[in-house]
Amino acid sequence: MPDTPIVVTVDGPAASGKGTIARRLAEHLGFAYLDTGLLYRAVARRVIDGNGDPADSDSAVRAARALEAAELAGEGLRDETVADAASVVAADAGVRAALLDFQRAFAAAPPNAAPGAVLDGRDIGTAVCPDAEVKLFLDASPEVRARRRVRELRERGSNAIYAAVLRDMETRDARDRDRAVAPLAPAEDAFVIDTSTMNADEVFREALAHFDAQTTSRK
Ligand code: CDP
Repeated sequence: MPDTPIVVTVDGPAASGKGTIARRLAEHLGFAYLDTGLLYRAVARRVIDGNGDPADSDSAVRAARALEAAELAGEGLRDETVADAASVVAADAGVRAALLDFQRAFAAAPPNAAPGAVLDGRDIGTAVCPDAEVKLFLDASPEVRARRRVRELRERGSNAIYAAVLRDMETRDARDRDRAVAPLAPAEDAFVIDTSTMNADEVFREALAHFDAQTTSRK
């Protein structure tokens, strides 16, 4: 019988570097990668495009149930307005329930028969894959994260202003941390990395060392 896939969860607040590390780990290990934030962003996009209100539960749940995989590659999902609306739809229990099966199925049977999966988000280690073998939680100070997000947005051609990005990010973080359902928090068994003073290579090395330590019995 083939081994069950190894699941790696990477959670953390906005611009903590989790996407970069999750993608790099997946590439290095030959695992499949799922950016679960895109699911919430695509739900928000659907609601906005239909002139709906992201805070209206019926519209948000309808959008989540109708979501198709192709929409994850859609235009404009990286805009900060979409990120903000994503954190509003993400606080809805019905939306989260509608997206759960897709995420769990991805982890249990990664595409292309990959030997494992890396999922990044807010609640992967706590709610989506609580039994994952390797759990990482990335964090950094709000100022460092806002600087990173400004750089990212400017590289994409938007004229982002630091003070506004910091304010919006703190609002979104608070919404994600304080919501009743699947709030942003490290799992009890997560390995927490504060990336404030680290570069991407250093974070990757720490993450990989933790992966190796957790999975030695597999080898
Ligand atoms: O890239 P960034 O970290 O700024 O955002 P993202 O990971 O794309 O997530 C956008 C929003 O989706 C977050 O602010 C959360 O409200 C929500 N989200 C969530 O609730 N649970 C997840 N597993 C992933 C994202």
